[in-house]
Amino acid sequence: MAIRMTVFGTGYLGATHAACMAERGHEVLGVDVDAEKAERLKAGDVPFYEPGLPEVLKRNIEAGRLRFTTSYEEAAEFGDVHFIGVGTPQRRGEYAADLKYVHSVIDTLGPLLKRPALIAGKSTVPVGTATELAERVARLSPVGDQVELAWNPEFLREGFAVKDTLEPDRIVAGVQPGGKAEAILREVYAKAVDAGTPFLVMDYATAELVKVSANAFLATKISFINAMAEMCEAVGGDVTLLADAIGHDTRIGRRFLNAGLGFGGGCLPKDIRAFMARAGELGADQALTFLREVDNINMRRRGRMVEIATEALGGTLIGKNVAVLGAAFKPDSDDVRDSPALNVAGMLQLKGAAVSVYDPKAMENSRKMFPTLGYSESVVDACEKADIVLVLTEWQEFRELDPAELEGVVRGRVVADGRNCLDARKWIDAGWNYRALGRNLST
Ligand code: UGA
Repeated sequence: MAIRMTVFGTGYLGATHAACMAERGHEVLGVDVDAEKAERLKAGDVPFYEPGLPEVLKRNIEAGRLRFTTSYEEAAEFGDVHFIGVGTPQRRGEYAADLKYVHSVIDTLGPLLKRPALIAGKSTVPVGTATELAERVARLSPVGDQVELAWNPEFLREGFAVKDTLEPDRIVAGVQPGGKAEAILREVYAKAVDAGTPFLVMDYATAELVKVSANAFLATKISFINAMAEMCEAVGGDVTLLADAIGHDTRIGRRFLNAGLGFGGGCLPKDIRAFMARAGELGADQALTFLREVDNINMRRRGRMVEIATEALGGTLIGKNVAVLGAAFKPDSDDVRDSPALNVAGMLQLKGAAVSVYDPKAMENSRKMFPTLGYSESVVDACEKADIVLVLTEWQEFRELDPAELEGVVRGRVVADGRNCLDARKWIDAGWNYRALGRNLST
């Protein structure tokens, strides 16, 4: 059965959720306070790069199932289910998450809800938030606790957002016992549930914890392999062979064991920090002190990359030209939030290098966020007279690079592979000095 639903916040999470819910046959109204964003989406234009999303968006707008607005009144009138997909960024100068956008949705929408409805939170929030929001909304709405709240965290990955939303690994429903929320969410996700997606019902706190603990686990897995990369560097081992070997143990698994520059983006770094901050508030800080080390290992890899480049160039970066291939925090994304690649580019520049950055999709965002870095329009332009080429985001275009194409372009044949994504043998055989994190193959 088609449900009339709204999605508050049309950023990454909200826009994808809105389009995919319409794709599943529901009638969806996306709501954003940013009129320009709403206008662009209305016109079928996705304001960020996400493979496959523009097609889903356009198809559903044309079918009349998907609209966008800035009006909370219209949204309150229209929806029986209201999803919250606004951002919860890290607070400036602190570890904790900033909930001002979530609160603003609840405080504006709550008083407008004049008939029973369900609010389903999708944003990543500190554990304990849902209980507080449920009370807040019941206080604000004219129909009181007939407006129910559910916590329904989202696990989509950038670059795979459409697939992850249409075919999630699991659906988590944090609900209060005795209400209608579970039945409504089962209806919302009927297609996925019918296709066998596990639908997991639990209390609010556990649902909130599932989200952050999943991200904490992924971050830990990445930092674990990066710690092993440090060990490989200390003894002359090869972390890629190590990852393959331990990954064969199905209890460990090979996925998320790619050693390199580590994690960035708008989720993992801020989520583990907010998780630690919340643990502290709850008097449980000891439980998560290991996450501080996960964060430290992650940040250390960026510094190590700068060291590798400096060593390879004879001990100084002053007067050196550095080509930086990659700016997005990961391939198939134009997101540069907490991007390890741009962090490294910035450090290299501070140490005196002339940096030239190229990324297939993230140039506009990079220029906006880091206007003082040097930029180029192609791989070859970035590598012009470069003393070293750094590959810092593993775009397919870079993986497939043929060292012969750069002959006569670069000044020095030195390549540093920050993501262990190049065919090292090919570069070494072509006469390049190949450097990487966690492996020593330079000869
Ligand atoms: C992450 C989670 O994977 C999603 O499940 C979650 O829903 C999302 O955060 C969120 O909370 O919204 P995302 O940030 O899109 O998704 O990116 P990931 O694919 O998890 O990659 C994160 C970072 O880890 C990237 O910088 C990537 O380069 C790095 N990474 C990943 C590694 O360094 N090594 C690996 O083996 C895998």
